[in-house]
Amino acid sequence: MRIFDRRNFLRVAAAASAGSMIMPRMHALALAQEEPTKPVAANDHIQIALIGAGGQGMGDARSAVQVPGVKLVAVADCYNGRLTRGKELWGDDVFTTRDYREILARKDIDAVIIGTPDHWHKQASVDAMRAGKDVYCEKPMIHLYADGPEMIETAHKTNRILQIGSQRVSSVLYAKAKELLASGAIGQLNMVTASWDRNSSLGAWNYTIPPDASPETCDWPRFLGTAPKIPFSAEQFFQWRKWKAYGSGVAGDLFVHLFSGTHFVTGAHGPTQGMATGALRFWKDGRDAPDVMLGLFDYKEGFNLSLRVNFVDGGEESESLIFTGSEGTMQIGWTSLTVSRVPREKEPGLTIDTFPEAMQTQIEEAYRTKYPRTHPEGQPPVGSEKYVAPAGYSDQYDHFKNFFASVRSRKPVVEDAVFGYRAAGAALLSNLSIERHAVVRWDPEAMKLA
Ligand SMILES: NC(=O)c1ccc[n+]([C@@H]2O[C@H](COP(=O)([O-])OP(=O)(O)OC[C@H]3O[C@@H](n4cnc5c(N)ncnc54)[C@H](O)[C@@H]3O)[C@@H](O)[C@H]2O)c1
Repeated sequence: MRIFDRRNFLRVAAAASAGSMIMPRMHALALAQEEPTKPVAANDHIQIALIGAGGQGMGDARSAVQVPGVKLVAVADCYNGRLTRGKELWGDDVFTTRDYREILARKDIDAVIIGTPDHWHKQASVDAMRAGKDVYCEKPMIHLYADGPEMIETAHKTNRILQIGSQRVSSVLYAKAKELLASGAIGQLNMVTASWDRNSSLGAWNYTIPPDASPETCDWPRFLGTAPKIPFSAEQFFQWRKWKAYGSGVAGDLFVHLFSGTHFVTGAHGPTQGMATGALRFWKDGRDAPDVMLGLFDYKEGFNLSLRVNFVDGGEESESLIFTGSEGTMQIGWTSLTVSRVPREKEPGLTIDTFPEAMQTQIEEAYRTKYPRTHPEGQPPVGSEKYVAPAGYSDQYDHFKNFFASVRSRKPVVEDAVFGYRAAGAALLSNLSIERHAVVRWDPEAMKLA
């Protein structure tokens, strides 16, 4: 609240409009790590295999093999077309199979990327670690809460590297956001607001079903795994996210990214409670996962998190993560981070225009004696800085670079199983809350439902 007389109002309005014309100061961010200068000797290559060669798995493998000294030698998938595509991309000598255990039995494979649907993440990771392989497992780390402790324990017991694939954790933008928050750039953090709006069919998970999809070309029993046994469904095979038996809905697909970003930037371990609401509003095509979901979460670090995912949006597709502090805000987008600082006013302000004029003058004079003007315009300084990722920047590549650095050094990964479980465990509170029509409590330190 400011002093609200006409003189002051005009001054404030002029300063505000001048302020709004100031462009943010731009900064180009440097890459997180320098490229190794020396080529890696062939006998020092890390040999990897891909388990689950769909959209994300193939994207992951393409990023992984760009890291110097990494070679892909095998692919496992339940659909023949993707095994054929694997050979097209990485050569005829790449070993392909429907049964990932054949890959795990090979001595020439050091690490695997797991890009299966969520309901296979735990089993494939545990089997791989027991077979002596390091693992890069896609997010969300878990499908069921019981998956988390088993994966953490197996990584510990087998002494394998297990990294979860929320690539934002390796992003230069998120690293900068973390640094800025810690340096007090936006003051005390009060709230994190994140949203993801999609208005397209692909955004709503209606991925293409190949024309040859059949029980002959798709290993349906292997795809199902522990999911309920039902007759072959090409839709469920290729668009599995739409069903809770294989995926974790909006919460596991998208909220989890927003949780891992929030946890990385703030250093928080997770919410103490969450509540969510959501429903299937638009895509009534047989799916059982909601297409609109809103979640609210409390953090003992002193902030609240609000999340929204909407597949029914009539407008632009957008993703936004905003950190609101006592002195400004920080917004992370796809390629940039913008920090807008509005330091808190050091004076409380007055509401006096309903009082007699003489009294207004009297109050204002006393007020100005107590709070002398610090800025000629009566406005605090307002500043905005924009940090831009290098052109063509890929946080996925950096996430793999970090993974393979740990595979070589045996030092901890950027996103271990504990981090992955804390992010996914928090995200899945939303599904539980909707199911139970209740607030769900979570102990982020013990990683247990409370
Ligand atoms: N990090 C990210 O930004 C990001 C983005 C998209 C997807 N993902 C994650 O990646 C995973 C895969 O998603 P997608 O979009 O690539 O799905 P997809 O359907 O395109 O691919 C999944 C593949 O796994 C195969 N598969 C299923 N069961 C298998 C088994 N037992 N053994 C071997 N292969 C098996 C299927 O045949 C399919 O080809 C999901 O967990 C998803 O959450 C992460």
